[in-house]
Amino acid sequence: MIDINKSIASLNWDKEPKGLYEPIAYTLASGGKRLRPTLALVAADCIVNGGLLSGDAIENTLPAALALEVFHNFTLLHDDVMDRAEVRRGRPTVHVKWNDNTAILSGDQMLIEAYKLIAKVPGDKVQKTLEMFNEMATGICEGQQLDMDFEHMSQVSIDDYMHMIELKTSVLLAYAMKIGGYIAGATPAQQEALYQFGLHIGLAFQIQDDILDLYGDPATFGKAIGGDICCNKKTFLLLTAMETADPESKAELLEWLMATDRDEEKIAGVKAIYDRLGVREAGEAVMEEHTAEALAQLDKLPQNNATEQLRELAERLATRKN
Ligand code: IPE
Ligand code: IPE
Ligand code: MG
Ligand code: MG
Ligand code: MG
Repeated sequence: MIDINKSIASLNWDKEPKGLYEPIAYTLASGGKRLRPTLALVAADCIVNGGLLSGDAIENTLPAALALEVFHNFTLLHDDVMDRAEVRRGRPTVHVKWNDNTAILSGDQMLIEAYKLIAKVPGDKVQKTLEMFNEMATGICEGQQLDMDFEHMSQVSIDDYMHMIELKTSVLLAYAMKIGGYIAGATPAQQEALYQFGLHIGLAFQIQDDILDLYGDPATFGKAIGGDICCNKKTFLLLTAMETADPESKAELLEWLMATDRDEEKIAGVKAIYDRLGVREAGEAVMEEHTAEALAQLDKLPQNNATEQLRELAERLATRKN
């Protein structure tokens, strides 16, 4: 199997002006799970030969896999400005280490770099790949807008939330699978199964991200704990709490939502309500449903080592700590 970290490390950012490219190098060298390129490559592997990817298949899928990771990292630069997040992957975020303008412009350049990589997809596949990539990118922007709109809205349903996370998070995982499969020659039915697999692991993935944002260990999670509560993010935890709370807990929760200056107290106060209501367990139950739905998609695909890898990956993600 191809080493995605090595391929990312071989991208060259030693260019001028340094102020534009250094933050890109910093971000891409800071690690992360490399989930999206992995999904694209394993999806391709599943379609092509079920063993190790052959030379051609690697060459054909790699630019798109890299584009997905560069694009993902671009969204993180802008997301951290929008969410006022100061730590990512255990390091200061770009807007903290440099400033907001740097996060905006280096982010923009990363978006362009992602498209340069898409342009390297084989000629007969590039147009359709580009169409899928565009669909994904627009989905993320729409999802991010909803995420921000919801911060200031009091009536947000769990259905609204699921729609929002499908856009901001799942479509990228779904299209990573579909694009990888498409380039490797998947049939339309296989592409759809790959897409649905990515979509459902993506929904579980974002619910887990919401859970880890409060219940994670900062040392392994790499992000500050409680940031979603400070921003009044409409997370799975908050919305479930609002829906299931007794009148006193609900009043207490609404009180905390108004607090803007006592972050530590606010996080502890809201967490105590969540713990009392068992919203974390409710989230884990919904995650399990989506993981099961994802796994069911695998029956529609060729059965080989790569399919097994996808099964393990879906199960591993459900219990991830970072
Ligand atoms: C962070 O994605 C953004 C979300 C969709 C929650 P990841 O958790 O995949 O971030 P890295 O790339 O592994 O750091
Ligand atoms: C992830 O949402 C969606 C995107 C980055 C596009 P979050 O805001 O929850 O991601 P983290 O928690 O900052 O990684
Ligand atoms: Mg966000
Ligand atoms: Mg964020
Ligand atoms: Mg988050």
